[in-house]
Amino acid sequence: MRPKAELHLHIEGTLEPELVVELARRNGVELPTFDVEAIRARYDFVNLQSFLDIYYENMAVLRTEQDFYDLAAAYLERSGVQHAEIFFDPQAHLVRGVPLEVVFGGLSAALKDSDVPAALIMCFLRDRGAEEAEAVLRAALPYREHFIGVGLDSAEVGYPPSLFRRVFDIAAGEGLHRVAHAGEEGGPDYVWEALDILRVERVDHGIRAMEDPALVARMREERIPLTVCPLSNVRLRAVPTLRDHILPAMLDEGLLVTVNSDDPAYFGGYVEDNYRMLRDELGMTEDQLDLLARNSFEARFDF
Ligand code: HPA
Ligand code: ZN
Repeated sequence: MRPKAELHLHIEGTLEPELVVELARRNGVELPTFDVEAIRARYDFVNLQSFLDIYYENMAVLRTEQDFYDLAAAYLERSGVQHAEIFFDPQAHLVRGVPLEVVFGGLSAALKDSDVPAALIMCFLRDRGAEEAEAVLRAALPYREHFIGVGLDSAEVGYPPSLFRRVFDIAAGEGLHRVAHAGEEGGPDYVWEALDILRVERVDHGIRAMEDPALVARMREERIPLTVCPLSNVRLRAVPTLRDHILPAMLDEGLLVTVNSDDPAYFGGYVEDNYRMLRDELGMTEDQLDLLARNSFEARFDF
């Protein structure tokens, strides 16, 4: 297996049904079903929101520092990567009464105990607005040494990057890296805003950037990485099938594309599964896959 870096991975999206059940039992949380296959059977998504609804619902089982530790330790053990930059969604836990201290405590301890070099990127839930994002960033600054950057995720359309200018400016002032989901369901205008207004160093997803030749040229010239997630795009119906994926065309355009797993517990595979499916379903060559893997190291942040 070729060495790879994972740059687009939501730790809450690695919550496998088996762990949902185990943590629900441990914490006395009621679930609609305790049958892992019945849980998995619900993962038939029609768009981003239909996934997010279940993703947030399942998080109810994450309560204690040990839960967050177990979640991250399980991911790092099976990730198959040599470097991991891991997103987490503190607001999804704060709204359930789980304090930042618990989230940072569990995740940071698991990263420290792992052999895989890994770091955290704190994401803001764009559908909860800019004011709350700023409050969360300020509340997280006492944990500044536990995360290397900030990101922007959750429901995209209707929540353009420009809303978050101030909080990203504050993050930049703190020396934090900046990334944002853009161009997954939103159009190229969301990618332009992420670059020009949020000053992001990487674009998460970004597949719809391909609709705008001037944007493609800009990203090629500035070597701005895109963290593409092929299996996620199929499962959330951003593309009809893997064979329709625009990733080979992105490589042909000379873009700095990487392949990532996004929410592997929900989308049918970890990073290596994404590479395998690109080869088997899309006919990508070993040379192309080697390039994607090399790109993942070029696009990584140092920590
Ligand atoms: N897009 C937006 N928000 C998310 C995603 C995604 O693919 N995964 C987890 N939160
Ligand atoms: Zn994502």
